[in-house]
Amino acid sequence: MEQKIVFALPNSIGLGARIAERANAKKGELTISRFPDGETYVRFEEHIEGKEVILVQTMNPKPNEAMMEIVLAGRTAKELGAKKVVGVVPYLAYMRQDKRFHFGESLSNKIAAWMLMHGLDKIITVDPHLHRVKEMGELFHIEHKKLSANSAIAEFISKKFSGKDTVIVGPDIESSQWAKRIADSIGFRSAIFLKERFSPRKVKIKVTTELDWRGKNVVIVDDIVSSGHTMIEAVKEIKKRKPKAVHCICVHGIFAEGAFEKLGKAGAKTIVSTNSVVHKSNGIDLSELIAREI
Ligand code: R5P
Repeated sequence: MEQKIVFALPNSIGLGARIAERANAKKGELTISRFPDGETYVRFEEHIEGKEVILVQTMNPKPNEAMMEIVLAGRTAKELGAKKVVGVVPYLAYMRQDKRFHFGESLSNKIAAWMLMHGLDKIITVDPHLHRVKEMGELFHIEHKKLSANSAIAEFISKKFSGKDTVIVGPDIESSQWAKRIADSIGFRSAIFLKERFSPRKVKIKVTTELDWRGKNVVIVDDIVSSGHTMIEAVKEIKKRKPKAVHCICVHGIFAEGAFEKLGKAGAKTIVSTNSVVHKSNGIDLSELIAREI
């Protein structure tokens, strides 16, 4: 009898199916729809008593609906007798509001974690945006696993580019955990820039490592492209230095407010993301990384 059943929730239909296939697990049927007033309706279309239920749901687009869907499905699975409920949430939304930047604000990261803990026994995510909170365990008091897309991105870069004429750039200090680590793992050169953020839509990038950029392929790597301003400003700074081409890679391609097109206009020759969030830039598949963990 199948013990693990993978359910692909609305934001991760394709990824969920690939994870089930790679993990050699059964793919389950689940209905999620809306009541006329906008409320979320969830129904498991099969028996899950005594089974390990794996819910795959990334939290973009529509993070609020995505949250409600996975919490309702997880809680329902428990009530229906699932042995264990595992949430695979490749892009974990709400993690960036990890401080009261202004009086009265909510600590959304803690509250989002608290909601997810009510529906899940374990959470698996990919490169969550942890900044002031350093470890998943500070937020999640359930089993948790933080995966990194670094190996998949490193493999992609090493297949497409040559270490001889390529520099991997991190647009800010935090991004060195992707850019520098990836570069070191494949023996490529790296440079980490400095970023000052004035508002969600205004950032300034300072190039701190001057090298001969001419004739180089520059690959900027970051965890998230959201408004795109971090990448856009990094691309503009590098373009001033006359490289051969500038490429952008991110784990989570949110590309809000036309960021993908703006990045192209700024001069990015290629823009590639992992399939943590569904987007036309998806070029790096995470299903195998995740399937190994479930
Ligand atoms: C910030 O520290 C992150 O690593 C990303 O650089 C940031 O979230 C990107 O946001 P945006 O695309 O809005 O500049």
